[in-house]
Amino acid sequence: MKILSSPSELTALTQQWRQDQRTIAFVPTMGNLHPGHLSLVQLAQQRADITVVSIFVNPLQFGAHEDYHHYPRTLEEDCQKLSTLAIDILFTPTVSDIYLQHLDCSTKIQVPQFDNILCGASRPGHFTGVATVVNKLFNLVQPNWAIFGEKDYQQLLIIRQMVKDLFIPIQIISAPIYREADGLAMSSRNRYLTPEQRAIAPALFKILNRAQQQAQTTYRQTGHPASYQTLENTLLEELTLAGFQPDYLTFRAQNTLASPQPTDQHLIILAAAWLGNTRLIDNLAFTLT
Ligand code: PAF
Repeated sequence: MKILSSPSELTALTQQWRQDQRTIAFVPTMGNLHPGHLSLVQLAQQRADITVVSIFVNPLQFGAHEDYHHYPRTLEEDCQKLSTLAIDILFTPTVSDIYLQHLDCSTKIQVPQFDNILCGASRPGHFTGVATVVNKLFNLVQPNWAIFGEKDYQQLLIIRQMVKDLFIPIQIISAPIYREADGLAMSSRNRYLTPEQRAIAPALFKILNRAQQQAQTTYRQTGHPASYQTLENTLLEELTLAGFQPDYLTFRAQNTLASPQPTDQHLIILAAAWLGNTRLIDNLAFTLT
C-alpha cells in the first residue's frame, strides 16, 4: 500500500494506470475505519485491478457548531486495518491540498433536488460540502467505480444525481449497511456514545423494523398503504420514549425521497435522532407486497 498526500503524485499514478488499461475502484472515507468501511474496500477490490482509498476529514461538510475539530482522526490504526486488505493507494491529502482557496471562496457543487430536505434541513450546507469534495476527489482519482455505503442514503442519491447531471464517467456502486450484532448501524460517531447511550442506540433500528412491519401489515390487510403520517407520529413517540431526541423519522419513495404516493411500493424509512450530543442516522428500504 502506497500512502500519498500529494494530488499531483496521485494523478501521475492514476493516469499511468489508465494508460495501461487497468481499472480503478475508489472508496472515499473520512477515516476512523470500521468493518463497514472495510466491506466497501472489499467490494472495490472485487471489481477493479486497482483500489484507491482516501481519508480526508472534509471541513466543508461540517457546520460551524458541528464536530469537525473532534472528529476521530486515527490514521495509524486505519493504515493497519487497510494493510491487511492490500489496497494499492491510500490518499491522505491536507485541507490546503484539496481547497486551494479559503473555503468561502472555493467553487462548490450543489444538488438542489435533495439538498435541503431531511439531513440537509438540519445540516445546512452539509451536502454541498459532500458533493464538492467528492467531485474534487473524483477528478483526482478518475476511477471506473466509486463505492458508497447505503447508511448515508441521502448522500448516495446526491452523488448519483451529481454524476448524472455533470456527465461524470464513473459508476456509483452502493453497499448495504453494516451493522453491529445488536443491529446498530456502524458509524465512526458511535464511539461518542456513553455506555448508557450505546445500550439505547439499537432501538433506532428496532423502531425502523417496526415501522416497516406496520406498513406492510396494513397494506396486506387492506390492500392500501398505511397513513404514513399517523405511523410516523407513533414511531417518533416511540423514539422519544426510548430516550432519543428525534430529528426526523419519515417514509419516502426510494428513488426520489418524495413523500410516497398511494401507488409507490418501493419505500424507504429514514431516521435521524440524537442521543445526547451524538446524532445517529439509519434507514430501511423495503417493497410493499
Ligand atoms: O461518507 C463519508 O464518509 C463522507 O461524506 C465522504 C463521502 C467521504 C465525503 O467526505
